Amino acid sequence: MPLLKAAWLLFVARRDTRGFYDSIARQYDRLVADQPGAAAAASFLAEYLGPSAPVRRMLELGCGTGLFSRLVTILARDLHGVDLSMGQLREARARLPDAHLVQGDILHLPYRDASFEAVISLEVLPHFPRQEHRFFAESFRVLAPGGLFLVDPAWTFSVAGLRRRRASSLGFFARMALLRLTNITAWERVPSSEELVASLADAGFQVTACPSADGRQRTFLVGRKALPAR
Ligand SMILES: C[S@@+](CC[C@H](N)C(=O)[O-])C[C@H]1O[C@@H](n2cnc3c(N)ncnc32)[C@H](O)[C@@H]1O
Repeated sequence: MPLLKAAWLLFVARRDTRGFYDSIARQYDRLVADQPGAAAAASFLAEYLGPSAPVRRMLELGCGTGLFSRLVTILARDLHGVDLSMGQLREARARLPDAHLVQGDILHLPYRDASFEAVISLEVLPHFPRQEHRFFAESFRVLAPGGLFLVDPAWTFSVAGLRRRRASSLGFFARMALLRLTNITAWERVPSSEELVASLADAGFQVTACPSADGRQRTFLVGRKALPAR
C-alpha cells in the first residue's frame, strides 16, 4: 500500500506545485492525517495573541484545505485565507463556509497594506527556496502595525528536513524520491534558524520567538510589526 501511494504521488507530482496540490486536494486530509504541528501552532498562536484575541482580521497564507484554519477560527472575527490551488480552496470552502478564501500567490498578495492584525502560515515556507525574504516582506506589508506574524519552518516537505528527522522507513525514501523527481518547489537546504530570523528582521519584523537550535522540534517563528513611534 505505501508503494502504491508513493507511485501515485510521484505520478501527480510530475506537475508543478500548484498542479500537485490540485491533484491531491481530495486526499490531502488523509495524507497528512497526523499533522503534528497544527494543534501546537494553534495553542502557540492563542498564547501569543493573549488578550488581543479574537483579532478583527486574520490571514492564513497557504491555507490548503483549511486543516489549520479550522483550529484558529475562534481567534479571529474574520478569517481570510489565500492559496494557489483551486482544488485545495474548494475543500477549504466546504469546511469553512464563513471564511474569506481566495486564490492568490503568497509572493504577490492580493490585499492592501496593513489589512490584518495577524498573519499565519503552517507547512508552507519550504515551498519558497531562496524566496523566504519575499514571503516575509509580503507578510509584513499586509500586517497592521502592532500585528503578529506566526510561521513554522515546516520541515515535512523538504528533503533536508526529512534527513534531519532521521527517518529510515520506506516513507522516507518515497518522499525523498517524490521531492527529487518532481516539479514541486521545495527546500533542498533548510535555512538555519539564524538565517530565518535575520530574514524576518530584514523584512522589518521584531522577532519574538525562533526555532530551536537543532530544528527537530516543532517550533515557530513569531514576528511583530512595531507600532509607529509617537
Ligand atoms: C503543505 S500544504 C499546507 C496547507 C495548510 N497550511 C495546512 O497546514 O494543512 C502547502 C500549501 O501551500 C500552498 N502554496 C504553495 N505555494 C504557494 C504560493 N506561491 N501561493 C499560495 N499558496 C501556495 C499549496 O497550494 C498548499 O495548499
